[in-house]
Amino acid sequence: MATEKELIEKATAMLDMAYNPYSHFPVGAALECEDGAVYTGCNIENASYGLTICAERCAAFKAVSEGHTKFKRIVNAGRCEDYCWPCGACRQVLNEFGGAAMEVVCLNGAGDAVRTTLGALIPHAVDAAWLGEPQ
Ligand code: THU
Repeated sequence: MATEKELIEKATAMLDMAYNPYSHFPVGAALECEDGAVYTGCNIENASYGLTICAERCAAFKAVSEGHTKFKRIVNAGRCEDYCWPCGACRQVLNEFGGAAMEVVCLNGAGDAVRTTLGALIPHAVDAAWLGEPQ
């Protein structure tokens, strides 16, 4: 299992991989799966702005596309003054594979961390139970 420090280092290193020529707002993420696998992501923007993908979903889709569908923790890094919170769309996507207990660690540009859970960030997320699907 990765330590939080290792995940913080990986998320922060991904700030240099961000493709952000329009917002100039880099985001890096390190996602730890239940089985210990770690996937990183960065935001990837596009001249057709709406096609931009956030760092968290980049990491999530890398993990799921390689067979890792149970998420334990994500660390988000930014260079902003505030903590780098996941956007609403990313919260919903992370909930699909992490559920309410998934840990979320958000860093600010100074490297301070705030720790919370996905359940706190997205109450009443749309999930299989809500749809009436068998669990
Ligand atoms: N961004 C992320 O990568 N993750 C978030 O959760 C918030 C926003 C990116 C998208 C865009 O490239 C830039 O940050 C500014 O919104």
